[in-house]
Amino acid sequence: MWSLARALLFMIPAEEAHGVGKVLMRMLARFIPAPRKIQNNPIGLAAGFDKNAELLDVLPKFGFGHVEIGTVTPRPQGGNPRPRLFRNAENKTLFNRMGFNNLGAGIVSGRVRRIRPKLPEGFKVGINLGKNKDTPDESAAEDYAAAARSFLDLADYFVINVSSPNTPGLRALQTPEALIPILNRVRSEIESTGRSIPVWVKLAPELTGTELQTLIEALDRGGASGFILTNTQGGVYIDEGKELTGGWSGQNLTTHSRQRLIEARSYTRLPLISVGGIMTPEEALERFRAGASEIQLYTGFVYGGPFLVRNILKAIRKQA
Ligand SMILES: Cc1cc2nc3c(=O)[nH]c(=O)nc-3n(C[C@H](O)[C@H](O)[C@H](O)COP(=O)(O)O)c2cc1C
Repeated sequence: MWSLARALLFMIPAEEAHGVGKVLMRMLARFIPAPRKIQNNPIGLAAGFDKNAELLDVLPKFGFGHVEIGTVTPRPQGGNPRPRLFRNAENKTLFNRMGFNNLGAGIVSGRVRRIRPKLPEGFKVGINLGKNKDTPDESAAEDYAAAARSFLDLADYFVINVSSPNTPGLRALQTPEALIPILNRVRSEIESTGRSIPVWVKLAPELTGTELQTLIEALDRGGASGFILTNTQGGVYIDEGKELTGGWSGQNLTTHSRQRLIEARSYTRLPLISVGGIMTPEEALERFRAGASEIQLYTGFVYGGPFLVRNILKAIRKQA
């Protein structure tokens, strides 16, 4: 069934297929019973798949234990002009230059507020935070804090995303000097509520060696709760002779993202979420062996469908 649906979806442009895929998931969800409780499920849906919390209510049915909504920016924004999502099916990769298209923290938090009470016990909702494109880097911390403010009573965890290649200048914030103030601003928003919400930092696969070590150690000391490695790999795609810049995901990332996990594991004892090029249950198990506490899927879910989630869960159970 999935291979038939996939074959049909792959006949239309990628972003439109994503829209149709979401409608299909909602239809399919009617035939899948909802789990009442979610226990020890370390597989999440990575950020960017459900940017606006449109699928939040049905995701637990597809076997996920958590979802990362967003990236959400304080104000709504349209993202880059289309086409901005492409697939290379032979290599099982995707190329995107979406540019944080999202409905903004106000609308998205309204949706999460409505759906949250209906979610199964134990299902976690993460909120991936970003800055608006037109906000200067000097005021970035204010944007992350403003986006977080709308979700203070809703998020199970926050993610500071400074690793998307599609917002000009964003990756330049991947330094202790830029990130510590952002982390502090988000943490003080949380502290003002008396709740405790973990704040993770999501990093790019290009960060490696001493640069990665310095950053991780500084953020570890600075109060980060853990790290999500990795975002997409910056690159170019030639569309009808035009060179487009953006980020690659899927099979091309498998080795890079696994390597970054292994590196990060040697720099910190904080929990690590591994994401990037997890296309098979074997690779998922590899990530847990390398020290990931949880994993996330995006491109693997596009190519492998819901069966990938189920098969990873089975493989984990078999190992236990
Ligand atoms: C179309 C698309 C949109 C994405 N949007 C976001 C986003 O808004 N925020 C973010 O942190 N990561 C975003 N990502 C990155 C994914 O969350 C993930 O880190 C990356 O794709 C690597 O995982 P994968 O190889 O399993 O896809 C996006 C990825 C894709 C393919």
